[in-house]
Amino acid sequence: MDAVERAAALREHSELVSTCTKCALAQGRTQVVFGSGSPDADLMFVGEAPGFHEDQQGIPFVGQAGKLLDTLLAGIGLTRGDVFVANVLKCRPPGNRDPLPDEIAACEPHLFRQIELIEPKLVATLGNFATKLLSGRPTGITRVHGHPQDVTLGVRTVTLYPLYHPAAALYTPSMLKVLGEDFARIPELLDRVLETPAPRAEPNVAVAEPDPQAVQLGLF
Ligand code: URA
Repeated sequence: MDAVERAAALREHSELVSTCTKCALAQGRTQVVFGSGSPDADLMFVGEAPGFHEDQQGIPFVGQAGKLLDTLLAGIGLTRGDVFVANVLKCRPPGNRDPLPDEIAACEPHLFRQIELIEPKLVATLGNFATKLLSGRPTGITRVHGHPQDVTLGVRTVTLYPLYHPAAALYTPSMLKVLGEDFARIPELLDRVLETPAPRAEPNVAVAEPDPQAVQLGLF
């Protein structure tokens, strides 16, 4: 897909998602928070769910946690326009409570389709919910943060990079320090994944050339 086709496909997906009623969160939302940034981003961030300000403005990470994300991005020479930012849930849970399993199950196809269309090389998961969903493993963020792992999503393999959630780091100085250190390794990691051709998830079906000797022997 070229850049124009990708942007159009993502817009079409966003229009579909904007009227989603697959879970009860549809009733309380101001609007769906689809995600924002470059449809061609090599680096994508996945957070948890919109909060009050995101629900009001329709853009992910615009509150205090978003300001921290912007600062961390600036520290590695990037802006929000260079990356794509989305959440596990596209609608705000009441009172900013944790996402429920049935809400995640209803919403995850939207995120997987976003990843399929954007084709990022590196997906930084912010916090436990995004990390567990995309890694397919129950291991929590405290154990896996800062450790890249290759995962197969649909027909592609992408590198996941679990990070502490900026909202959690805002109130815990030791976590903020670790988040800053993990974040600082993104440029090197991005260079590495951009150099390495992404392995295909589907096995390549090798078409065997007949052995010339076997041909001579009349076996083909
Ligand atoms: N926290 C998130 O996980 N996502 C947002 O969009 C805002 C805060």
